[in-house]
Amino acid sequence: MAPQRPRVFVSRRLPGDAVERLAAAAEVEVWPERLPPPPAALARHAAGADGLLLLLTDRVDAALLERCPRLRVVANMAVGYDNLDVDALTARGIPAGNTPGVLTESTAELTWALILAATRRVVEAERAIRRGDWVTWEPSFLLGRDLAGGTLGVVGFGKIGAAVARRARCFDLRVLAWTPRPKPVEGVEWVALDELLARSDVVSVHCALTPETKGLIGARALALMKPSAVLVNTARGAIVDQAALAGALRERRIFAAALDVVEREPIAPDDPLLSLDNCVVVPHIGSATVATRARMAAMAADNVIAGLRGERLPNCVNPAVYG
Ligand code: GLV
Repeated sequence: MAPQRPRVFVSRRLPGDAVERLAAAAEVEVWPERLPPPPAALARHAAGADGLLLLLTDRVDAALLERCPRLRVVANMAVGYDNLDVDALTARGIPAGNTPGVLTESTAELTWALILAATRRVVEAERAIRRGDWVTWEPSFLLGRDLAGGTLGVVGFGKIGAAVARRARCFDLRVLAWTPRPKPVEGVEWVALDELLARSDVVSVHCALTPETKGLIGARALALMKPSAVLVNTARGAIVDQAALAGALRERRIFAAALDVVEREPIAPDDPLLSLDNCVVVPHIGSATVATRARMAAMAADNVIAGLRGERLPNCVNPAVYG
C-alpha cells in the first residue's frame, strides 16, 4: 500500500506558487475565504493536519495543539510570530517557522512612506482637495515638518530597524537607536529609550511584540517626545498604547502619528484615531508588495515541506526542538 501523503492546512489563499510547491509534497487544503478561519474552524481543520501554513491572524495555543495529534510543523507567513505560543509548540517538539529577511526592504520602504506622510501631512492634504478645500496657494496652509538636519529615533534595531536607519542618510537625518543588545553600527548612536524619545523628531518603532515591549510607548513615553515630533509604528500595534496616543495627538502633545499596525486589527471604523487629522492609519501593509508577499509565501511553504520531511526548518523560531 502506498504511504499516506501528509496533509497540510493553509489558512488563506496565497500569492505566487506556494500552494503548488506544497502540493508536490502533501495533500493541501486551502481556506477559501477572505476572512481568517474562526478559531473553531481552524481547530477543526488543524486536527487532521501534519502541517499548518498560517498567517498572523491565526492564533496557535496549547488548547489548539491538544487537538492536533499529527501536527509536525507550523509555518507563519510573517516575520513576527506573536500569534504562536512558541513555548507550547516547543513543549510538543513541533518546529515553528517564520519568514525573516525577505520583507525587510519592503517594510522599510513603507516606513519611509509613513514618515513622509506624517511629517508632510500628505493624507490630510489629499483629503483637503477631495472636500474642495484647495482654494488657492496659501502661505500657511498644511504646514508640515522638515526632515533634513533632524533626528530619527529607531526603537528596536533588528533587520527592519536597520534598513530604516540606512535610508535616513538620504534624508540628512542623524540616527539614534535603542535596542536591548546594541552592537556598533556606523552612523548610529545608541542611547537609552528616554533619551531617544526626548531627542528625536521622528520616532519609528521596529521591535518585536513581547511581554516586555507591550505598551512600551505609553503615556509616559509620549510625554517625553517633542511636541513637533512624529511617531511611526510598522511593528505591532500593542507596542503603542493606543488610548494614550489618541490623547497625545488630540491635545497636540506630539505633531502626528502614522500607523501600519494597531492594537486590534482591523481597526474599528469609529476608533478615535480615525477622527484625528494628525493620524494616518494604513491596514498592515508593510510587506505588501507583489514580489515580497510571493517570497514570504514560498518561504513559509519551504518551512512546511522541511518539517514534513523531518528536516530542520530553513527559518525556525524554536530551534530548541532540535535539542
Ligand atoms: C508582518 O507584520 C510580519 O510580521 O511579517
